[in-house]
Amino acid sequence: MSGILEGKRVLITGVLMESSIAFHAAKLAQEQGAEIILTAFPRPTLTERIAKKLPKPTKVIELDVTNDEHLGRLAELVGEELGGLDGVVHSIGFAPQDALGGNFLNTPFESVATAMHVSAFSLKSLTMACLPLMQNGGSVVGLTFDAQYAWPQYDWMGPAKAALEATNRYLARDLGKQNVRSNLISAGPIGSMAAKSIPGFGELAAVWDDRAPLEWDLKDPEPAGKGIVALLSDWFPKTTGEIIHVDGGLHAIGA
Ligand SMILES: NC(=O)c1ccc[n+]([C@@H]2O[C@H](COP(=O)([O-])OP(=O)(O)OC[C@H]3O[C@@H](n4cnc5c(N)ncnc54)[C@H](O)[C@@H]3O)[C@@H](O)[C@H]2O)c1
Repeated sequence: MSGILEGKRVLITGVLMESSIAFHAAKLAQEQGAEIILTAFPRPTLTERIAKKLPKPTKVIELDVTNDEHLGRLAELVGEELGGLDGVVHSIGFAPQDALGGNFLNTPFESVATAMHVSAFSLKSLTMACLPLMQNGGSVVGLTFDAQYAWPQYDWMGPAKAALEATNRYLARDLGKQNVRSNLISAGPIGSMAAKSIPGFGELAAVWDDRAPLEWDLKDPEPAGKGIVALLSDWFPKTTGEIIHVDGGLHAIGA
C-alpha cells in the first residue's frame, strides 16, 4: 500500500526530543512514504540521537533559524541530499523566561523581540531559504497555539503566535503564484520541552480537561503530527493561509 506522501521530499525542523511534535510528524511522514531531512537546534548531536528512533535513517543539518549564515547555506545542503523539496515543516517556538509565566506587563522589549524573531519571523525566513528548492510548488506547515485568545501564563508567546498566524496568511498571498501553500496546525497543549519551559503550563493544560469536547491527552503529539502530514499531502490542494485546529475541538466551545 502506498502512503499519502509517496515521492515527496520534506524538510522538518524542530525534532529535539521524542515528545517533540516534529518527531511524530517525521515518523508519520516516513511511514507515509516521504523522504525527509531534519534540521537541528541547538546541537545536531541531540537531534541525531532522537532521529535514530525514526523508521529510516535521515540526515541532520544544523539550523538556528535566526542565523543568516545557516539560512543562506540551507538550500545548497538540502539540494545536495534530496535534489529539491515538496514540503517544509516549521515546528519552532521560543520565548525567554521573562516573557512567560505571568510577567506580561513587565517583559522588556528585547525578550519580546527574541520571541517574535524565533517564533514568527522565522516562518518567512525558513520558507524563503527553502523556496529555491520548491520548483514544482510545495506545502509549508507551521504550528500555532490559538492566538485568538489570551491564555493563562502564555504571555508574549501569544502575540508571537498572532504574528505567526498573520505571517502564514501573507506567505499564502505572496507564494500562491508559485503553487506554494502555507498553513498552520493549531495544536492543543502537549507536554514537550517547549511546553515545560512555560512556568504554570499545567494551569493552561487543565483548561482542556474541563472543556475540550474530545478527550485530550497531553502526552500524545501524534494527532498534531497527523494533521501536519495531511497538510503536506496532496489532499489539501487548494487550501492555503489556513489554520486547522487539532485541539480536541476546544476552539469551538465558549464555556
Ligand atoms: N507543546 C504545546 O503545547 C504546543 C501547542 C501548540 C503549538 N505548539 C508549537 O509547536 C511547535 C513545536 O513545539 P513542541 O511542543 O514540539 O516543543 P519542542 O521543544 O520539542 O520543539 C520546539 C523546537 O523549537 C526549536 N528551536 C528553538 N529555537 C530555535 C532556533 N533559534 N532555531 C531553530 N529551531 C529552534 C527547538 O530546537 C525545538 O526543536 C512550536 O512552534 C510550538 O510553539 C506547541
